[in-house]
Amino acid sequence: MRRAKITIVGAGNVGATTAHWCAAAELGDILLLDIPQTEGMPAGKALDLMQASPIIGFDSNIQGTTSYEQTRDSDVVVITAGLPRKPGMSRDDLLKTNAQIMAGVCREVKNTSPQAIVIVVSNPLDAMVQKARQVTGFPPQRVMGQAGVLDTARYCTFLALELGVSVEDVRAMLLGGHGDTMVPLRSSASVNGVPVTQLIPADRLDEIIQRTRTGGGEIVGLLKTGSAYYAPAAATAQMVEAIVRDKKRLLPVAAYCDAEYQVGGYYVGVPVILGAGGVERIVELQLTAEEQAEFQNSVAAVKALVATMDSLV
Ligand code: NAI
Ligand code: 2OP
Repeated sequence: MRRAKITIVGAGNVGATTAHWCAAAELGDILLLDIPQTEGMPAGKALDLMQASPIIGFDSNIQGTTSYEQTRDSDVVVITAGLPRKPGMSRDDLLKTNAQIMAGVCREVKNTSPQAIVIVVSNPLDAMVQKARQVTGFPPQRVMGQAGVLDTARYCTFLALELGVSVEDVRAMLLGGHGDTMVPLRSSASVNGVPVTQLIPADRLDEIIQRTRTGGGEIVGLLKTGSAYYAPAAATAQMVEAIVRDKKRLLPVAAYCDAEYQVGGYYVGVPVILGAGGVERIVELQLTAEEQAEFQNSVAAVKALVATMDSLV
């Protein structure tokens, strides 16, 4: 059986770490692509990662390149190309530069891998994924963004730490954009089915939700020279796995919503069924009145971001 061909555009922190998680899980053969100015960097990282394979015990061919020709007919393309957020810099500050980078990358992807499923990671995520769809013209099922898996993982981590329970038993869902307006749901967070609202006082849960919303910024503030990459990459690899193994996972994904949730043609984080066809179905939840209002607020923020991007580029 042919192994999946996975291209990761951008061989920086998130890209290389995504390659690491994908290789360790034997999700397929991996091409790590970066710009020509990086010279041997993607090839060096790929070779280094390959040399871990006898130790860890994975069969995965990993190559670094600066040529899209080598990525031809990829099954999945992950886009992490762009500039990361620096301290004091908002995600939106990155908007113009990363939109231009995204457009250039997507023109190449469209030409070389016209059947690929595209996962956008670059920030500001909700605008970059919209740009990727505009430029590739791929069906919406095949273009999506990674944010919700990461943000939900942060939420679950903080819940597990608070309660002193295994992360394996914590389940949660999160909606909206990848920004401070994201909506970590109170109603669906549980420890093996026990609602967290019965385990954590409301004001403490509010604090945990606020920490989740600013989770990316917390790490930027600590690292000082870049942004998070271990958990973002693990989240991206989980989405790659759902696609290449056709797992039909129910995951929060930045998906194109038109009639769904009455969004009207924008990418926002919603629960989807993720499988070999990409976003195979968007799952519409019954939200409480408070969650509904928070979600509308987040959708408005995404629309404003996209409008700004369209006015800049
Ligand atoms: P990084 O600076 O370590 O890596 C970015 C890489 O992109 C660099 O190697 C750079 O040479 C490359 N690049 C720039 N222009 C390119 C082009 N036109 N074609 C191919 N490669 C190009 O940054 P890091 O930490 O890997 O972050 C990457 C992006 O992911 C940033 O935009 C960051 O904000 C975003 N991010 C998104 C997350 C999410 O949950 N959606 C989480 C973490 C980061
Ligand atoms: C994060 O949430 C910077 O978007 C990135 O860590």
